[in-house]
Amino acid sequence: MQQTLHLGQTLEFPGDPFRDGPSAARHTTRGGVLVDGARIAAVGDGAALRAAHPQAAVIDHGGGLILPGFVDAHAHYPQTGIIASWGKRLIDWLNAYTFPEEARFGDPAHAAAVARTYLDLNLANGITTAAAYCTIHPGSVDALLAEAQARGLAMAAGKVMMDRNAPEDLRDTAQAGYDDSKALIGRWHGAGRLRYAITPRFAPTSTPAQLEAAGALWSEHPDCLMQTHLSEQAEEVAWVRDLFPQARDYLDVYERHGLVGPGAVMGHAIRLRPREWAALAATGAAIAHCPTSNTFIGSGLFDMDGAQRLGIPVGLATDVGGGSSFSMLRTMAAAYEIGQLKGRALHPAELVFLATAGSARALRLESRLGRLAAGMDADLVVLDLASTPVIAQRAARAGDIWEQLFPTIMLGDDRAIVAVHVAGHAGDARRPA
Ligand code: GUN
Ligand code: ZN
Repeated sequence: MQQTLHLGQTLEFPGDPFRDGPSAARHTTRGGVLVDGARIAAVGDGAALRAAHPQAAVIDHGGGLILPGFVDAHAHYPQTGIIASWGKRLIDWLNAYTFPEEARFGDPAHAAAVARTYLDLNLANGITTAAAYCTIHPGSVDALLAEAQARGLAMAAGKVMMDRNAPEDLRDTAQAGYDDSKALIGRWHGAGRLRYAITPRFAPTSTPAQLEAAGALWSEHPDCLMQTHLSEQAEEVAWVRDLFPQARDYLDVYERHGLVGPGAVMGHAIRLRPREWAALAATGAAIAHCPTSNTFIGSGLFDMDGAQRLGIPVGLATDVGGGSSFSMLRTMAAAYEIGQLKGRALHPAELVFLATAGSARALRLESRLGRLAAGMDADLVVLDLASTPVIAQRAARAGDIWEQLFPTIMLGDDRAIVAVHVAGHAGDARRPA
């Protein structure tokens, strides 16, 4: 098998910086990542790896920082075309911008074109894996996952299930949502690096019968992910209370229908009551933190420390197109800013961890993705820590890797992403399935 040795700065995470502090990370200034086929074979001192593997092809990234590819724990690929739409909060934003755009995905050619654009943007920003919502149309899943497969990407995706409170052409039924999702699971789940995520959009757009069907489907396919939205805006929480008067709270709607447990990824989770926090922690469900979305749509400030204290897996997410950026760097910056507003400055080690190992754990992919370590899939991103003049002059004053990295987190964009490798291959190459 062809071996490639990537030389550059490396950051490994033997521990969890939220638990152990920045010393959870191991930084090597002249490090190396040895890739054998599609996997990482070794991580360590660059010169030592070079001496031990003289036959390996060498790619020297200089002072570039080699990280695992970023993992986006929650995004809506069909909203690529309406990102940065002005002036609305969640419910009005869905009705004015999102639903009309999602209706266009009945056309397979439109779905295929947007899937290509979306994955191009992801790779340009160093995102090699995402958990993506599609639309109500099964063909929207086929379009995204066929394109992801052609590029060798590890992706999770699912058909949105909605049988009420959405336009007629964006509604399925409890039975059709179940049948279509089940057929898609058979077609895509476990095909190469692809995973299926059972995707009831959120409580207001599903009848109890549909939530019941989604729960039944998940119990039949427990190794699928289950993704939905939870407690994002005050108006939404009040709506859920009206629609489900028997439920104790928002999370209870999902609990009653078997939609909470390991492998559940709850988007946002901003306005939780103490009982909901405790229930999330007890059940092993994960949260996708969507910081640019939470400020852009005006939802509120996520309690990161509260989630970490309870040991709830938290991933970082763009939430495109409620989120206002495809950039995981910008998303980390927004998480930092929200942390500041909550009174806690997240450390750069925590921000990078969230975008890699944290998201991988939230998606139950931690045995394959999210860390530089032997045996992991070789999805890599390389950051230029001096990608613009203003970043370069800040990084030049740095005393350690964290001071060197933080300006790129706060000021960096796709110019900082200098290389992406997917399963050992250069990531912009479209490979046959
Ligand atoms: N809640 C239900 N659907 C959506 C969506 O598409 N985006 C966001 N941000 N929240 C939602
Ligand atoms: Zn979302």
